[in-house]
Amino acid sequence: MPTPVILDCDPGHDDVFAIWLAAGDPEIDLRAITTVGGNGKLAHTTYNARVVTDLAGIAGVPISAGADSPMVRLLAPAEWIHGDNALGGPELPQPAVAADPRTAVELIRDTLDEAGQPVTIVATGPLTNIGMFARIHPDRLPLIKEIVWMGGSTGRGNVTPYAEFNAWTDPEAAAMVLGTGLPFTMIGLNVTHQVLVTPGVMSRLGAIGNRTAAFGVELLNYFNSTYETDQGMPQAPLHDPVAVALVARPGLVSTVRTRLDIELRGTETAGATSVDLLGKLKRPPNASVATGVDIEGFWGLVEDAIRALA
Ligand code: RIB
Ligand code: CA
Repeated sequence: MPTPVILDCDPGHDDVFAIWLAAGDPEIDLRAITTVGGNGKLAHTTYNARVVTDLAGIAGVPISAGADSPMVRLLAPAEWIHGDNALGGPELPQPAVAADPRTAVELIRDTLDEAGQPVTIVATGPLTNIGMFARIHPDRLPLIKEIVWMGGSTGRGNVTPYAEFNAWTDPEAAAMVLGTGLPFTMIGLNVTHQVLVTPGVMSRLGAIGNRTAAFGVELLNYFNSTYETDQGMPQAPLHDPVAVALVARPGLVSTVRTRLDIELRGTETAGATSVDLLGKLKRPPNASVATGVDIEGFWGLVEDAIRALA
């Protein structure tokens, strides 16, 4: 049976592939998409989610806008990577699908209430919406099977020396969600930097031959160019769909049970994800943290999902 999933995202180039993988893979039952301010302002991330679901022929999946800014800090959209509309590169077609009038918290609430079984939440942006949901509906947390988050890193950051963008944008929300005690899996840069958009990946996607793949290639050309400029990486890591891949095929992503804490107060380290892999702090384990990915298996999954779309 496919796994029911709510995808909370900030599209963003790599979030788009998370949406497409969640919609196109037979092991995932994408029930709802919620958007958050992160890679771009909320208006952009929400509009972009509408564009790429409509373009891919994804129907019947409600899209609701959530938080436009982090819980405590100010939003600093990652325009240096994703552009000023959060989806730089191709001309964006006018989406036919409207956003759902409910807020993200309301859509998560209703989706959980109606599911009849626990629902997996995959989050590929700052965790603001999920933190808000936990604060407003603590009684509904048992309706969530697990939270799988693309964020953090067991090593260096990408927006400061020690913080990854999703964690850095809203570390308070990340700490709050981690603190709920729900099963929590973190997929950090240490893993996502293994799935690079190489020329081989680009040609395989280009060979799929549908409009979704063609649009995806345009997105990745832009993403590769900004990653080279900003991060010195000519082949961008396609971070977010790795979180979906773990849910779709758990065997593709290896994880360890360990201790994860979020740095909230560091002047230079706010947003750092402290992963105590050696257990030096003697604190009880509270998360699963990704340590590896089957690279070829991942790309095959992405390709197959896109091939199944429009
Ligand atoms: O650091 C990478 C993460 O930040 C990805 O989710 C990307 O989309 C941005 O949100
Ligand atoms: Ca993202």
